[in-house]
Amino acid sequence: MKPVTKMAAVVLVLFTIGAFISPVRSLDNGLALKPTMGWLHWERFMCNVDCDTDPNNCISENLYMQMADVMVTEGWKEAGYEYVCIDDCWPSHQRDAKGRLQADPKRFPRGIKKLADYVHSKGLKLGIYADLGTFTCGGFPGSLGNYDIDAQTFADWGVDLLKFDGCYMKWTLLGEGYTNMSIALNQTGRSILYSCEWPLYEWPYHQPDYAAIRKACNHWRNFADVYDSWDSVKTILDWTADHQDVIVPAAGPGGWNDPDMLVIGNFGLSHTQQESQMALWAIMAAPLLMSNDLRDICPRSKQLLQNTRIIAISQDPLGRQGYRTAKVDSFEVWERHLSGGRLALAVMNKQEIGGPRGFPLTLATLPSWKICHPQCNVTQVLPSYKELGVQTLLSELVVVVNPSGTALLTVTPI
Ligand SMILES: *[C@@H]1O[C@H](CO)[C@@H](O)[C@H](O)[C@H]1NC(C)=O
Ligand SMILES: *[C@@H]1O[C@H](CO)[C@@H](O)[C@H](O)[C@H]1NC(C)=O
Ligand SMILES: *[C@@H]1O[C@H](CO)[C@@H](O)[C@H](O)[C@H]1NC(C)=O
Repeated sequence: MKPVTKMAAVVLVLFTIGAFISPVRSLDNGLALKPTMGWLHWERFMCNVDCDTDPNNCISENLYMQMADVMVTEGWKEAGYEYVCIDDCWPSHQRDAKGRLQADPKRFPRGIKKLADYVHSKGLKLGIYADLGTFTCGGFPGSLGNYDIDAQTFADWGVDLLKFDGCYMKWTLLGEGYTNMSIALNQTGRSILYSCEWPLYEWPYHQPDYAAIRKACNHWRNFADVYDSWDSVKTILDWTADHQDVIVPAAGPGGWNDPDMLVIGNFGLSHTQQESQMALWAIMAAPLLMSNDLRDICPRSKQLLQNTRIIAISQDPLGRQGYRTAKVDSFEVWERHLSGGRLALAVMNKQEIGGPRGFPLTLATLPSWKICHPQCNVTQVLPSYKELGVQTLLSELVVVVNPSGTALLTVTPI
């Protein structure tokens, strides 16, 4: 057994972010003024093209039509989830006679335009996937050399969002390629939300130019794909906190850092860990793109994903991304500035042994607690809703947090 540090041995590490200059200009297409909300097939359904033996879960038009149906009937649309997004493995291996991408005819017999019409008839939007290089990551035709024709094809079909991957591309051409596709989308005249993976592919070589990325893209993936595991979620959070000085100032209305999909409602996270993912994705002003099976989801996961108070933090109109502000005694504190001078606070318990632990909210652990001078009103949103009432600098409020869980609070100065 290793001795467990007691509260007496608290080491407080504080983080600050360089002065927030209002973020550089965003892509001017009027979209993603708040973090995108929707559903994306990849993490749950991957490249399952076997409709003969697995018709219910293969990448086919039925999958998106069924998700669209459920999004309307089960309250997802009402909660704000809007985009139904196709990921890799939708196309045919051959372009058509005019050089256009076409959907696999067996799995999408009615074609993408009809699918877009169907999704639109439900009041939702359709996303599609393509790749900057010679092939998609799954080995389907890439868009290199065809950016204009592919952008026009997506616009003709009525597509509303493009996730543009970066496999099979020379890294020195990433900037040119992502920017060219951004221009090609603009020139179609259709508003198409543009989701990039430019920095993810550039980081192995050098620090990406986030001003250029923000000008070209509505959100951008920085780091590896999310998996259905707590380890994966933790790795993404650690990477984000370790690079927050560089990436946080780039986020704001029109352009967001994308830590990848929500895996809530699947198999790998405990309910406590699902709460942590939801809380931290809201704090990070991340796109909320679920990858799960909405046709069959546990009621608690559904309730968490549809929690209006968490969604309100995610979609806060100030549009500032939160960040890690302290590490203390195996807790992490993350904060996000909200409109109206309010603050969202997430306290994550990273000690994965033992039971729930208390974290005192005081100036000593939490410098921004100063907004409680002279008074503030504190509301706990997770793990359960609780009005903690009016507090002052001298209050001795303690929140209790499960191992690998998160307490999410809002603090309103009075
Ligand atoms: C294209 O870009 C121009 C200039 O930035 C902008 O005003 C216009 O709204 C854009 N159009 C679309 C469809 O995104
Ligand atoms: C981007 O567009 C420019 C101007 O048309 C062209 O010269 C360049 O080859 C393009 N690069 C890529 C990667 O598409
Ligand atoms: C504190 O916040 C709660 C929840 O929003 C609200 O019901 C209550 O009236 C607030 N109290 C004060 C004193 O502002």
